[in-house]
Amino acid sequence: MKKNLSMLVFASLLFVSTMEAQNSMKLDFISAEVTINKNIYGQFAEHLGRCIYDGIWVGSESNIPNVNGYRKDVLEALQELDIPVLRWPGGCFADTYHWKDGVGPAAERPNIKNVFWGGSIEDNSFGTNEFLNLCEMLGCDAYISANVGSGTVEEMVDWITYMTSDEDLPMVNWRRENGREKPWNVKFLGIGNESWGCGGDMRPEFYADLLRQYSLYANLYGQNKLKRIGCGANGADYNWTEVLMDRARRNMDALSVHYYTIATGNWGDKSSATGFNEDLYFKGLKEAMRMDDILTKHSAIMDKHDPSKRVPLMVDEWGIWTNVEPGTEPGFLYQQNSMRDALIAAISFNIFHEHAERVQMANIAQTVNVLQAMLLTNDKQIIKTPTYHVFNMYKVHQDATFIPSTVNSEEYKMGDQTLPSITATASKNKDSKVNLSLSNLNPNKSIEMIVDLTGGQVKNVNVASVLTSPAFNSINDFDNSNTVTPTKFSDYKISNNQLNVKLPPHSIVCIEMQ
Ligand code: AHR
Repeated sequence: MKKNLSMLVFASLLFVSTMEAQNSMKLDFISAEVTINKNIYGQFAEHLGRCIYDGIWVGSESNIPNVNGYRKDVLEALQELDIPVLRWPGGCFADTYHWKDGVGPAAERPNIKNVFWGGSIEDNSFGTNEFLNLCEMLGCDAYISANVGSGTVEEMVDWITYMTSDEDLPMVNWRRENGREKPWNVKFLGIGNESWGCGGDMRPEFYADLLRQYSLYANLYGQNKLKRIGCGANGADYNWTEVLMDRARRNMDALSVHYYTIATGNWGDKSSATGFNEDLYFKGLKEAMRMDDILTKHSAIMDKHDPSKRVPLMVDEWGIWTNVEPGTEPGFLYQQNSMRDALIAAISFNIFHEHAERVQMANIAQTVNVLQAMLLTNDKQIIKTPTYHVFNMYKVHQDATFIPSTVNSEEYKMGDQTLPSITATASKNKDSKVNLSLSNLNPNKSIEMIVDLTGGQVKNVNVASVLTSPAFNSINDFDNSNTVTPTKFSDYKISNNQLNVKLPPHSIVCIEMQ
């Protein structure tokens, strides 16, 4: 009996040390209480390069299969992602956009010059009606970015009235003439974009006053109360957040922040989206992980001014920004998308989940053909990028309850720099299914890890998938569109509250358990 007892003690010590050893994850089911807002899986589509025109909108006369002008293949691919919210029309474009140019009969809409993005001529054939109808077709909320940089309060108020009012008013009657009887359900309104830069080159003190002014009028018109999103900081500009929270926290319903991953850390030469070496692979992942520090520091400032967390933080532009594909217009920001992008998306989602209490929206830049896109198009062809597949695999976390966890991971080293090899996240949905997403960042070795499920009432794996590729810089292109695509995953064992998983090199594994 005594012998059995000491063996038991030895066995449990062994078990505990295994759990504390490298490459393990312990889920804390008891502390699971924060909801992962589905809007963290939001998108951003700007009038930039071939995002709207070619990417989403081809017009009903096009020989590219379309539904009333919207590309059919793009529409179907986006419908599959369960996009919760779509931000439009910019970006920098938003602060040059005068919405009245984009409504009424298409033939009568004026041309304008897209001054920030390659100087292209914009014919305004995609405007407010086309955007809001798209949101309805995607079943997502609309996030409109209002023009503060070169617009007026009156223009914004007219726009809100046009979109959201049901009364007998000139703007509403104009909407009716334009074929839309009922108002749309617009939920989010951005008060300017990057007002510290392309949105007006303002100081935070000046912008804080404008935010107060625009916000006041934004909610006096129309039937629905818009969630007014204050323009937030450029990455690590904490002073911007400090000033905005100090002077205008009562005048906004959320504050944004933008952070882009630049693998070289240098805006001058961001490096290629393809064919990069392991050093740039590593740097890209490391730069993406800076998101955690940025959110932590902005949140600390917000906590000081807003301890009850009434004002959420919205990361309404994020993603990797590389050099454009050779031979393409630099102002169109068309870049390829690799397995590195997929891992950056997984890293970012894992970080957003950790910050789910404060971070309640994120919008990847951008949906089609621009920056870290879901989809790339070339005439009638379409590619689902590695990033698309991560959005599809991770959509199970939308509106689920975040399960805090402790991850012990071996290091992935590059010179004197290190990264944890494993990044992971977990959530429980309303049907009590537990979804686990595990990534191995190390491209040189597979990693066996143990997940402790004690307390989770979890017995079986329902379904599991893996996204990996021949190399860390593999891409999908128009000749081989399925090089990086999810497949069924079976390299796991589950028993006695323990899941053992073998993660392939540079891979993302998603497992649903019950
Ligand atoms: O997403 C591309 C651009 O990046 C956006 O227009 C701007 O807001 C940001 O600088």
